[in-house]
Amino acid sequence: MRALAVHPPAAGSAEVRDVPDPSPGPGEMLVEGLALGICGTDREIVAGQYGWAPPGRDRLVLGHESLGRVRTAPDGSSFQPGDLVVGVVRRPDPVPCGACAHHEFDMCRNGRYTERGIKEIDGYGSQLWTVETDYAVKLDPRLEHVGVLMEPTTVVAKAWEQVEKVGARSWFEPKRVLVTGAGPIGLLAALLGVQRGLEVHVLDLATDGPKPDVVRALGAEYHSDGIDSVTARIEPDVIIEATGVPGVVFEAMANTAAYGIVCLTGVSSVGRKISVDVGAANRDMVLDNVVVIGSVNANLSHYAAAAGALARADVEWLSRLITRRLPLEKFADALTAGADDIKVVLDLTA
Ligand code: BGC
Repeated sequence: MRALAVHPPAAGSAEVRDVPDPSPGPGEMLVEGLALGICGTDREIVAGQYGWAPPGRDRLVLGHESLGRVRTAPDGSSFQPGDLVVGVVRRPDPVPCGACAHHEFDMCRNGRYTERGIKEIDGYGSQLWTVETDYAVKLDPRLEHVGVLMEPTTVVAKAWEQVEKVGARSWFEPKRVLVTGAGPIGLLAALLGVQRGLEVHVLDLATDGPKPDVVRALGAEYHSDGIDSVTARIEPDVIIEATGVPGVVFEAMANTAAYGIVCLTGVSSVGRKISVDVGAANRDMVLDNVVVIGSVNANLSHYAAAAGALARADVEWLSRLITRRLPLEKFADALTAGADDIKVVLDLTA
């Protein structure tokens, strides 16, 4: 079968190559890969800035945003051949730390977790893959063309859960949310905000291309002016930061309403320095009881929440998030970000 592999930490090593078909071990399913979503983390791995091959091996099969169809499932499992499934990204560390022992591997304390397609376990970028039934989630068959958005949806389901848990420390009836960044994470965070009945605002640099209309089609408001003027106007109770751009991150922290909650989801590149007034920001955050949360990855409860959110969403709206779909062999084009991209997907069946 064909698989998209990299040789971390070498830069530019991505290639589609022939590898042996996988065979499922006990408790595992064999899945036919349908689609693979590409994200910033994949681009970082390909650029040699992130990613680890399995111990004792040079190559890692790339890909953590999966969608597949079950070919074989163990007897007595809750899966059937033909089911639409996604595989979970992270596995608990082997110690395990307290969080991993409590199924909260997204909160791993010792950093020895592994991640499919990212850290020490092969990913889902192949025509066939195997997955433990305990780390697979069934999707509504209606999601056949958009279910590849599941993994980024799990990331925002966790982010919203974190916001709500922090909000619950006192009286909390948020009205307005600002999402910074109209990429897949930002737009899916906006979707979950709308599903919660909030007034949703999305801020992005783009003034043309698909993003403004996609935001408006959700019933949310699109902004492309400066974050400080937007926050001054709307005074958001919650900000979900999905750009990772240092200036935007800092302005988000410094510009919420009183009791504001900022959830950071964007992984920034390091080394870009900006000059900021930390004293003023600290003063405002203390006097306003502001909380800033970092949030990464997702555990099985977030996969369940994300599957529910996608099942409730308008499939036509979700399909507008997939702006390019390319065959596996065109992986190099998929890994090159385009100006009007939202989500780029590799078709593993083509
Ligand atoms: C993935 C997460 C993962 C993180 C860090 C992100 O792109 O969505 O599942 O934990 O990268 O490796």
